[in-house]
This record gives sequence, C-alpha cells and structure tokens, in this order.
Amino acid sequence: MAATILITGATGLVGKALTKHLLHKGYAIHILTTQKTLLGSDKKLQYFYWNPQVNEIDTSCFDGVEAVINLAGSSIAQRWTKSAKTSILNSRIQSLHVLSKAIKEGNFPINQLISASAIGIYSDSKTNYYEEEYVSAEDSSFLRSVVRAWESATTQFQEMGIKTTILRIGIVLDAKDGALPKIMAPIEKYCGAVLASGEQWQSWIHIDDLVALFTHTLELKLEGVYNAVAPNPVQQAELTKSIAQVLKRPVFLPNVPEFALKLLLGEMSAIVLESQRVCSKKIQNTGFKFNYHELSAALKNLLN
Ligand SMILES: NC(=O)c1ccc[n+]([C@@H]2O[C@H](COP(=O)([O-])OP(=O)(O)OC[C@H]3O[C@@H](n4cnc5c(N)ncnc54)[C@H](OP(=O)(O)O)[C@@H]3O)[C@@H](O)[C@H]2O)c1
Repeated sequence: MAATILITGATGLVGKALTKHLLHKGYAIHILTTQKTLLGSDKKLQYFYWNPQVNEIDTSCFDGVEAVINLAGSSIAQRWTKSAKTSILNSRIQSLHVLSKAIKEGNFPINQLISASAIGIYSDSKTNYYEEEYVSAEDSSFLRSVVRAWESATTQFQEMGIKTTILRIGIVLDAKDGALPKIMAPIEKYCGAVLASGEQWQSWIHIDDLVALFTHTLELKLEGVYNAVAPNPVQQAELTKSIAQVLKRPVFLPNVPEFALKLLLGEMSAIVLESQRVCSKKIQNTGFKFNYHELSAALKNLLN
C-alpha cells in the first residue's frame, strides 16, 4: 500500500501539480491549508485546517503520515512593503515551527521532511556557477535573509531524527501560473522587451520535472540540500527571446532599463534583476533524469 503524505501549501502552483501526480501514483494525500472553505475529504485526499500565525493546527493531519512536504509560504511576487516582508518571512518560519512542534508533542512517526527553498539563497553573480555547498557571503538582500532563515528552520526536524531534504527551487515554468504567464503577457501584446542588461542568469525548471524531482527525493528518501533547476540555465535576454520565438512575436523594443524596473517594482525588482546560474549535477548524480534539459523544449511543451 502506498504511503500517506502530508503537504502544506498544496493549493499553490507546485502543490497542485504535485498532489495530482502523487494521487495518480496511488499515494494518499493529506493537505494542510489555511483556507477553511477547502475542508472536506474523500478516501485518498483529505484537507485539514491550520493557521501557523497563531500556532493553530489540526493534528489529525498527521494520522498515518510517513512524510511531510512543506511548500507553504506567502508569495514573494507582491510589492515588498514592510508588512509583506514580515508575512513572507514569518509564514515560512512559523509554518516549519508549528509543524515540528506538533510532531514532537504528538510523537508522530514522521520519517522525512521535504521542504521547499529557493535559489535566491545564492548571491547575485553573473559568473559563479552554484553548487549546493557554496556558502554566499552575508549581504543586505531581503530574499537571501528569508531563504537562509527558512532553511535554518528545518534543523528542528533533523534534531528529532527526521530525514530532511531541502530543494532549492529555480523559476518554475508553468503555462498558467507563476512567472511564465507574467513574462508572456507583454510579449503576446507585441510589447516584449529584455529586462535590464539581459545578462542576468535565470535558472528555470519545468513544472513536470519539479514534480518528478519531489517524487524522486521522496521515493529514494534522499537527505540534504539539492538544487531543483534544469541543467541549462539561460540569461534573461535568451529567456525573453525564446518565449517570443515560441509565441511567434517579435521583440523590437529596447531593453527595459534597470532604474525603470526599480521604480516600477521597488525592492522586489531583485527577483528579475539578480543573476544566479545554478548547477543541477547533484540531483542528476542520484539518478534523476530531467525530461526538459533545454529551455526551447520546455517552452514548446508548455506553450504549444
Ligand atoms: N514558483 C516558483 O517559481 C518558486 C521558486 C522558488 C521557490 N518557490 C517556493 O516553493 C513553494 C511553493 O511555490 P508555489 O509557486 O507553489 O507557491 P504559491 O503558488 O504561492 O503557493 C504557496 C501556498 O502556500 C500557502 N500559503 C500562502 N500564504 C501562507 C501563509 N501566510 N501561511 C501559511 N501558508 C501560506 C497557500 O496554501 P493554502 O492557501 O492552502 O494555505 C499557497 O497556496 C513556495 O514556498 C515558494 O516560495 C517557488
């Protein structure tokens, strides 16, 4: 009989696709959600309510569960006001804290935690090629401080003897949700333009490969930190032009200057201005096979 997996943040872009895939493989899924309206259940899929901000959790979510997949977190794709920043950080730290506290107090026999993280942990660099062991120097980046704290919060699970896996996710490419539809929108309207110098590296992953990668780390019970990016990152100019090519649209406007992006998006412009060229070797060395190595193949699959 396939195991029961508890997923937090399962109603988001990654979680929806992962839940569908794991259900299809025969797993039973428990979903911890902050949305009260989603409560209800059937044999293979059950919803449970939690509110990590006030330490509230329905601990029956752990019944029969072997592994927890943690995807919960307030979106970083919102203007980084003071309160948004607090929510982006706290939602991630509190979620892990509430989960670990409940597991400890209830003595639930969870054997693995797979927690989402992000390549934003690596410093902005046009030349580095980041492997998991790289430790970035401290800087004033909000994103890096969030991801560092997020990863550190998983040590609570290691201290309980739970196998802990951290997946540093790159830009997830999905046709309907996340970054791709946002990048596509102006290109479709003949207003596409390369962002800033266009030289910044963007390490991407096709949603199907990311779902397969989560499943691979679950089934092989892999421990440690893994980059979850495709083998061939691209620079921003190539990303814009490849999308335009698949959509059969020209890109004739000049590059959007960095200062304009900063004015428009504020501090959050770091999401599109920072450069992280990230290596996928470590997960490939565990036997993981990507279906989408090249951006063009991923885009053709998603957009045609
Ligand atoms: N998509 C990407 O390109 C990307 C890249 C790098 C890292 N990641 C990380 O991977 C994880 C999953 O990504 P995603 O794109 O699927 O995210 P998403 O679509 O924004 O979904 C995240 C989920 O987290 C839950 N959530 C939202 N605010 C919360 C809060 N204040 N407290 C607790 N839970 C909250 C929500 O689920 P409920 O409403 O059911 O509670 C939401 O559906 C996220 O943590 C994200 O930061 C994503």
